[in-house]
Amino acid sequence: MDFYKVIRTRRSVRSFKKEPIPDEVLNRVLDTARVAPSGGNRQPWKFILVKDERLRQRMVAACNDQKFMMDAPLIVVACGQKLPINRGGYMGEMSILLDVSIAFTHLILAARAEGLGTCWIGAFNNKEIKKLLKVPNEYEVVAATPLGYPSTDVFTNPGNRKNLDEIVSLNKF
Ligand SMILES: Cc1cc2nc3c(=O)[nH]c(=O)nc-3n(C[C@H](O)[C@H](O)[C@H](O)COP(=O)(O)O)c2cc1C
Repeated sequence: MDFYKVIRTRRSVRSFKKEPIPDEVLNRVLDTARVAPSGGNRQPWKFILVKDERLRQRMVAACNDQKFMMDAPLIVVACGQKLPINRGGYMGEMSILLDVSIAFTHLILAARAEGLGTCWIGAFNNKEIKKLLKVPNEYEVVAATPLGYPSTDVFTNPGNRKNLDEIVSLNKF
């Protein structure tokens, strides 16, 4: 699929078919996160695939009870390893949010290219998920997404977005 079409038609999907994802498709999608860029090529990430039904139910509870997550056959949880880097002199050890978010964006766009739906989940309880999925102390949860085939045709052009002239400026802010 054309790269720009992937970007334009990726939508947050909140309704999924139960249909499982073939392993080769899932591996292609995951591999795009693997090859993502990261500062110093540190690759400070781990992606946990949550398939088990009981665990997925508990994941939903730890994500503000966003029940639609349960419809998808899989939930992907992106974790980042805290590292002593301080990007821009202000980001502190949370600098790794950048690396993990870039890799997760690869995954989300690749999913779109495969006809799979995702929804970036930012409303979650880090502590609860860490306990549930046995995430080591030196890692934090950065994001999660349900992953599955959408139950309706949701891949439309973006809705409400700012215009380019509102977000781009020349030579000064
Ligand atoms: C960092 C981040 C956190 C988000 N958290 C949630 C969330 O917890 N639940 C949800 O349903 N959507 C969440 N979203 C999806 C946004 O609401 C969505 O991307 C935005 O409304 C634009 O819609 P679109 O993705 O369909 O283009 C999140 C998106 C981002 C980037």
